[in-house]
Amino acid sequence: MGTVWTGSPASAADDGPQRVVGGTQATQGEFPFMVRLSMGCGGSLYSPTLVLTAAHCVSRTGNNTSITATLGVVDLNSSSKITRKSNYVYRAPGYNGSGKDWALIRLSSPITTLKTLPIAQSSTYDTGTFTIAGWGAAREGGSQQRYMLKATVPFVNDTTCNSSSMYDGDIIPAEEICAGYTEGGVDTCQGDSGGPMFRRDANNAWIQVGIVSWGEGCARPNKPGVYTQVSYFAPAIASAAASLGG
Ligand code: ARG
Repeated sequence: MGTVWTGSPASAADDGPQRVVGGTQATQGEFPFMVRLSMGCGGSLYSPTLVLTAAHCVSRTGNNTSITATLGVVDLNSSSKITRKSNYVYRAPGYNGSGKDWALIRLSSPITTLKTLPIAQSSTYDTGTFTIAGWGAAREGGSQQRYMLKATVPFVNDTTCNSSSMYDGDIIPAEEICAGYTEGGVDTCQGDSGGPMFRRDANNAWIQVGIVSWGEGCARPNKPGVYTQVSYFAPAIASAAASLGG
């Protein structure tokens, strides 16, 4: 998971070295479903044995015992961290580097002490203000973080995100959802990939609407973060999860 770095939403004209201001530290237990993966990505606890992450964080579908998931802590060096090895990876069918950026990682044994993060089943929540979190870089080109950072970013609609001043047609509208400030300054970054973008639902519970996927640089003006649109893939994710045993 990347670092959430927040630069000061300074003036749009300020494209000098960005200053990390936002991205405050998450508090212990605030986002119990957050997962750090050993290849340098984030993830979310989808079920007691499954972690939802990005396809670009994994290599292929099949048995895989090489990934370590760390859960239950804000501080990755904490002695109270929970760890699990993977035993299987499922990468989105048809993934070729563009869109379809989701994958499931099955853990060697269930995590029964942490809350899972439900995924959005419809586009109802694909708007508003989203929370992003992770251990990725706190600025473009920066190092991975020991402590989980968090920030909030506003929804950017597909038309705006695909406009010539932003991604100029590179967004796949059905499969991707953008979020960030026009002026930049707050974003996910390298190492946050695979982690969730989430918000509150009608019952005030957290619900996942995105998976950290890509962006041009980090927190640059007119370059919002691009996230896998979870609601679009919800049926495929659910059937893959069922095939993996839940
Ligand atoms: N692809 C990056 C990763 O592997 C995530 C980049 C997110 N970038 C952004 N500007 N939101 O960690």
